[in-house]
Amino acid sequence: MSHAAAPARPEAPAAISLVKGPRAPDVGTVARVYAANRFIPVPPSERHFVGDGDFRAIGAEFLGHFVRLGGLAPTHRVLEIGCGIGRMALPLTQWLSYGAGSYDGVDVVKDGIAWCAQTITPAYGNFRFHHLDYRNPVYNPVGNLPADRVALPFADGRFDFVVMTSVLTHLDQATTEAYAAEMGRLLRPGGRCFLSLFLMNDDARAGLRQEHRRLAFDPGAAGPEYQADPANPGMGVAFDDAWLMALFARHGLRLGAPVAYGHWSGRRSANYQDLLVLVREEGR
Ligand SMILES: C[S@@+](CC[C@H](N)C(=O)[O-])C[C@H]1O[C@@H](n2cnc3c(N)ncnc32)[C@H](O)[C@@H]1O
Repeated sequence: MSHAAAPARPEAPAAISLVKGPRAPDVGTVARVYAANRFIPVPPSERHFVGDGDFRAIGAEFLGHFVRLGGLAPTHRVLEIGCGIGRMALPLTQWLSYGAGSYDGVDVVKDGIAWCAQTITPAYGNFRFHHLDYRNPVYNPVGNLPADRVALPFADGRFDFVVMTSVLTHLDQATTEAYAAEMGRLLRPGGRCFLSLFLMNDDARAGLRQEHRRLAFDPGAAGPEYQADPANPGMGVAFDDAWLMALFARHGLRLGAPVAYGHWSGRRSANYQDLLVLVREEGR
């Protein structure tokens, strides 16, 4: 009979708790589980207005970007500007802690806000959705309020993390200036902002001069605003990289990570739009 010590019992598997507990879960796992979960609601196609592609897969991909590139933590207070119909909010329900994290989403499309408020808020009371009646030529052409005078209904420094995916790609120059000021006002010092957008610079211009370009921006046009279809303003908008960074800097927002340029302008990249992380300066 052997008196060797009994082998240690294998450790009990860690409790699977995606949103609770002191340790942040692994975002790759959360994103994969989310993308494969057929119980996650998806808006019906007739109410869908936020672009092509697999709704869940795109949300899962961006959750990974928010965490890996942007440093989003489960305890953060998140503001999403232009939340559409919940494509980013839904995966965030699986990441933000119910006890400590929170989410506020704003958009100019009433029906998208209504779907999110009816579908998400009853299960996740820390997720709130707000309709804003600002005009946008594509999404809310009959809005009552001029978007270039936006004043979002939140106190200064209220948020740790602001999300704006594929929204500056539909705003004009004056409205972009107004939203940059709001982002600077609403983020706490050290807070971060994650954007996906089209940044015009020499490399993008070179790509746009190639045959295989996907968007019809005129690389020779005078900036800082470039319309993909000047006859339909707001369908696709790019901004001069340097102009935009100077605008953000005026509102205390500096580059927080190297820009992950996308393949919209012919570059080789895994992502379509450019991904930008900004950090709100301390002591302003
Ligand atoms: C391409 S969709 C992206 C939606 C969402 N961010 C996503 O990635 O699923 C652009 C969104 O910007 C919103 N939007 C346009 N103008 C806006 C404004 N002035 N304020 C807030 N949202 C706006 C639109 O209503 C639309 O939901």
